[in-house]
Amino acid sequence: MKNIVILISGRGSNMQAIVEAAIPGARIAAVLSNRPDAAGLAWAAERGIATEALDHKAYDSREAFDAALAARIDAYAPDLLVLAGFMRILSAGFTEHYAGRMFNIHPSLLPAFTGMHTHRRAIEAGCKLAGCTVHFVTAELDHGPIVAQAAVPVLDDDTEATLAERVLAAEHQLYPAAVRAFVEDRLQIDGLRVRGAD
Ligand code: GAR
Repeated sequence: MKNIVILISGRGSNMQAIVEAAIPGARIAAVLSNRPDAAGLAWAAERGIATEALDHKAYDSREAFDAALAARIDAYAPDLLVLAGFMRILSAGFTEHYAGRMFNIHPSLLPAFTGMHTHRRAIEAGCKLAGCTVHFVTAELDHGPIVAQAAVPVLDDDTEATLAERVLAAEHQLYPAAVRAFVEDRLQIDGLRVRGAD
């Protein structure tokens, strides 16, 4: 059995998709948030999952918050740490501690559109395809080895909101499948390439 700890900052729909996938061999050990009012915390608690909130505003520095967060995460002995809409830049010490065992999902086809406002930028750039990426997290923002990607069309009448909705639906398929591949020990990292996902 592999322990999964999930970090969220908001509604947590990707967290919900991973929980509801009921991946064989995976146990959702805890859901943690940097925002005490994150809607996803209540959803997880209602299902009997351990939840904790650590308000980043209560810490003097990024490093101090990350150290406190890591201490709480490690109390659950995670095999995999899953960032699911966790809207924090992570310190190098944090990313090194979880090297090779931390996933993030990003709402673009990386390496295009790292950072924020990915859907607006994809539309403005005239892209015909958009999508989402699950990747291992490294110290460089949105640049770690890519585990899996899903593409969706950009339609002529798309707005940021309609494209975001289409990408989010793809995220809910992609993320549980990527977690499952990790849990089944299928993934091999070779530089920026990851082999063994679906
Ligand atoms: C998702 O679209 C995810 O890809 C994005 O935030 C949303 C969280 O939704 N993550 C990032 O932008 C990370 N840079 P959720 O809370 O409903 O899962």
